[in-house]
Amino acid sequence: MPLSIRLILKESSMDTPTKTYFIKTYGCQMNVYDSERIKDTLSEIGYAETDRMEKADLILLNTCHIREKAAEKVYSELGRVKQAKNARKRQGKDTLVTVAGCVAQAEGREIMRRAPVVDVVIGPQSYHRLPALLHTARHKNCQVLDTEFPAEDKFQHLPHGSRPVSSTAFVTVQEGCDKFCTFCVVPYTRGNEFSRPVAEIATEVRSLTDRGVKEVTLLGQNVNAYHGEGPDGRDWSLARLIDHLSDIEQLARIRYTTSHPRDMTPDLIAAHRDNPKLMPYLHLPFQAGADRILAAMNRKHTSKDYLEIIDKIRTARPDIALSTDIIVGFPGETEAEFNATLDVVREVNFAQAYSFKYSPRPGTPAATLDEQVPEPVKTERLNRLQSLLRAQQQTFNKATIGRTLPVLLEKPGRREGQLVGRSPYLQAVHLEASPQQLGQIVEVKITAATANSLTGQLQINPN
Ligand code: 5AD
Ligand code: SF4
Repeated sequence: MPLSIRLILKESSMDTPTKTYFIKTYGCQMNVYDSERIKDTLSEIGYAETDRMEKADLILLNTCHIREKAAEKVYSELGRVKQAKNARKRQGKDTLVTVAGCVAQAEGREIMRRAPVVDVVIGPQSYHRLPALLHTARHKNCQVLDTEFPAEDKFQHLPHGSRPVSSTAFVTVQEGCDKFCTFCVVPYTRGNEFSRPVAEIATEVRSLTDRGVKEVTLLGQNVNAYHGEGPDGRDWSLARLIDHLSDIEQLARIRYTTSHPRDMTPDLIAAHRDNPKLMPYLHLPFQAGADRILAAMNRKHTSKDYLEIIDKIRTARPDIALSTDIIVGFPGETEAEFNATLDVVREVNFAQAYSFKYSPRPGTPAATLDEQVPEPVKTERLNRLQSLLRAQQQTFNKATIGRTLPVLLEKPGRREGQLVGRSPYLQAVHLEASPQQLGQIVEVKITAATANSLTGQLQINPN
């Protein structure tokens, strides 16, 4: 597809060279990853990060469109951005405002109309073009929009930086989705399913481990549908990619998210049994318990299919921590159908879960269905579901009290002398340890647990 950047003339003039940026990221881990790549790009063209919007020559919002509330947040934040931009203007300073991410993709023109403060609107497939768009906005004195799905691979054009990283990092290996669940905007905002080649991913992971990263989470909207080109020219599965990456010696832990039950292939299940670097944690959304609702959602699995997959995974890796996504109040959902969702939750016993009220998204098939469930009914169902999920999460966490777990120390804790790390089951663990130990995997005896985190004591290594 040819490069097509639409220009809309604006009145004000911006000519000051810009050097600091403020970035705010909404939504999923893929946006967090994208923001890291955007930071690398900006750092290459001479920008430094600031955590104060008022100080920034460039303000960038990386947005999420998955539910209505997420999209609304962008417009209210743009109100604050406008104030900051106006205040800076009074001091004689220019500010470029960029909206990136899925709201940009879905509502680009609408954003520019509703928020003239915005200079650049850029969709997730175009981030490698950001420097050119900023240049155009500044020098041509206009609003710029790029929401194409370009033919070139943005990953090959995005820098992977030399900025310091923490002990854990995200790596997008797959993007987009061809599943078209009827509630979901992802196939429209992120486009068709695309898998990055194995060699490109391995190079990126090596660059991260060279900078001290011990754990990577492989990301994709439908990551277990991964089928990237392997070094032998054939399509490799996610399980094969994981095995390949686990040959990187300094890499201690591998995770992946988000998966679809349909793509939970035998080789991936077997990897949970055979690959010690693959962490015992699986996020596998089931969305709803009633088969009629699952069919209306176009999920292409029944609740029985889901439970059978869970059985197989537990057979392969009995201690695996299971997580999921659930939607309540999909159009037409009855009380009995909602109860079927609770039944699946009771049957599986989740270590963690994300649950949402159904939110109609413009352009998706479910948004126009009759029988939208009233808001108070959705709220009441969500409350019931979340109290069950909270109890399960607490039980899971409490069961680790008394055990000694390997914890990857990630960052300083809130209290002096405290660090926070992650157990293999992705639980946050707080403990007293020295900052020199950041980035290490240490043995920690768990002494207390809440629904959200664990507390433990560092065990002295007998060697
Ligand atoms: N309404 C509510 N939740 C949604 N999700 C996706 N689209 C919607 C929607 N329209 C949830 C799904 C998905 C997670 C990322 O967000 O549970 O797995
Ligand atoms: Fe959206 Fe996930 Fe369904 Fe794809 S599989 S349409 S990303 S909910």
